Amino acid sequence: MFKRIEIHIAIIENAMVAQCPFIMWGYTMTSSSSCEAKYTAKRKKSKAHYEQAKKHLPAGVESNIRLFEPHPFIAKEGKGPYLYDIDGNKLIDFALGYGPLILGHRRPEVIKAVKEQLNRGTMFGSPTLNALEYVKLIKKALPSIELFRFTNTGSEATMYPLRVARAYTGKEKIAKAEGSYHGGYDYMMQSVDIPDDVMQKGKKCQPAVTWGKGLPKCISDLAVIYPFNEWDETEEIIRKNADELAAVIIEPVHAGGGCVIPRGDYLKRLRRLTKELGIVLIFDEVLTGFRLAFGGAQERFDVKPDITAVAKVAGGGFQLGGFGGSKEIMEEILPSDEGNVYHGGTYNAHAVSVAAGLATLKILSKPGIYSKIDRIGDMFFNGIIDVAEDRKVDLWVEHVGSLGQIFFTDKEVRTWRDEQETDREKWEKWFLNALTGGIFFGVPHPDGHAFTSLAHSQEDIKRALEIASAAFKAVA
Ligand SMILES: Cc1ncc(COP(=O)(O)O)c(C=O)c1O
Repeated sequence: MFKRIEIHIAIIENAMVAQCPFIMWGYTMTSSSSCEAKYTAKRKKSKAHYEQAKKHLPAGVESNIRLFEPHPFIAKEGKGPYLYDIDGNKLIDFALGYGPLILGHRRPEVIKAVKEQLNRGTMFGSPTLNALEYVKLIKKALPSIELFRFTNTGSEATMYPLRVARAYTGKEKIAKAEGSYHGGYDYMMQSVDIPDDVMQKGKKCQPAVTWGKGLPKCISDLAVIYPFNEWDETEEIIRKNADELAAVIIEPVHAGGGCVIPRGDYLKRLRRLTKELGIVLIFDEVLTGFRLAFGGAQERFDVKPDITAVAKVAGGGFQLGGFGGSKEIMEEILPSDEGNVYHGGTYNAHAVSVAAGLATLKILSKPGIYSKIDRIGDMFFNGIIDVAEDRKVDLWVEHVGSLGQIFFTDKEVRTWRDEQETDREKWEKWFLNALTGGIFFGVPHPDGHAFTSLAHSQEDIKRALEIASAAFKAVA
């Protein structure tokens, strides 16, 4: 049985069990030894390097999310939609640096801009012409922004707005969605994931749970957790805490557990409610900004937040992020006699990153670019549904344009809790089979997501779907 509902589609068929051991986000899972053996046989140098790296880096990787079992491949080179590892394997890349590379690897205009900037200097500790041109382009893309400040990462881009919102409202608590990820700092390391033994099953949401060790318990008291896409509960929780809430932060497409698209007028209602209650609405567009449209998710879903955070695509493959909003709110950062909101950073608006970001945004601002990007995204994610149906695999796919995730389930996936109940072991087995076949299907975790780019051709997608189909055969 096959059913299509707007931009997400489910395939309802039979489900199977997988067995590949994976360790990601610090969790261990199980997997099949035959696909692992095939994967490693093609990656002897990667495996040897990884064994060395374990002696020098915790878990042998530079960032927890890069780890998966049996071992990561070691990247050597990227070109267009392809990644090459040190063993000579060529992969069609749907991870794209975990989102930033919407133009693919080494887009010539971006590389040229970076080389030219390198010849002029890397950083100056002084304002630059390019930085202002960049901000003007940001404001053109995101009319909700009147004033903008640079950061280096997406984590900083969401962290500073919390401080600005606290200063502006005089309140302290922040509401975030259960399962959303806004960066690795203490305030937002709340209910990013919930260990099984703590999860209150059968509920739509539960109070804040710190994610991982090393976090002061008192920080959880400042977080209010609401369930994305469950409007009645969201409204009740926000109204109940309104007197203490400085801000509601949201990923407009909930990508923290994979990909969940906002249903109905969830975002519009949230906009109305926060305005009514005097709470700052922050859109975390680190992932969706310049990906879903030139104006990000706020253009796509026609909702204007008070503050927007951007990073990833905004830096064109370099470390660049920022946040902006109305003049009234952003002027909390201005120096004044009463004190101000501190915002700083040695590397803010780093000249090379700005050059890369500017070159990227100039390309993305051209008419018709996003219809091309979306066409390839639709071809890939809708094609996955078709090949899974051919293989009689139960699958739910959520995607919007070039961002999506697949879920092994016979039910609709509408919330983060729905995502958690899908067959994650099967996803891991499928992922490893697909990787062994030649596609790197996004962030290597069932809570991750995959991306297409302007560099993927129809031929690349056709080839990727053949590989995906073979991987479905292996899990079915
Ligand atoms: C929605 C969202 N917000 C914030 C971040 C943090 O960005 P960064 O890794 O650049 O600090 C991420 C990273 O994946 C993200 O997906």
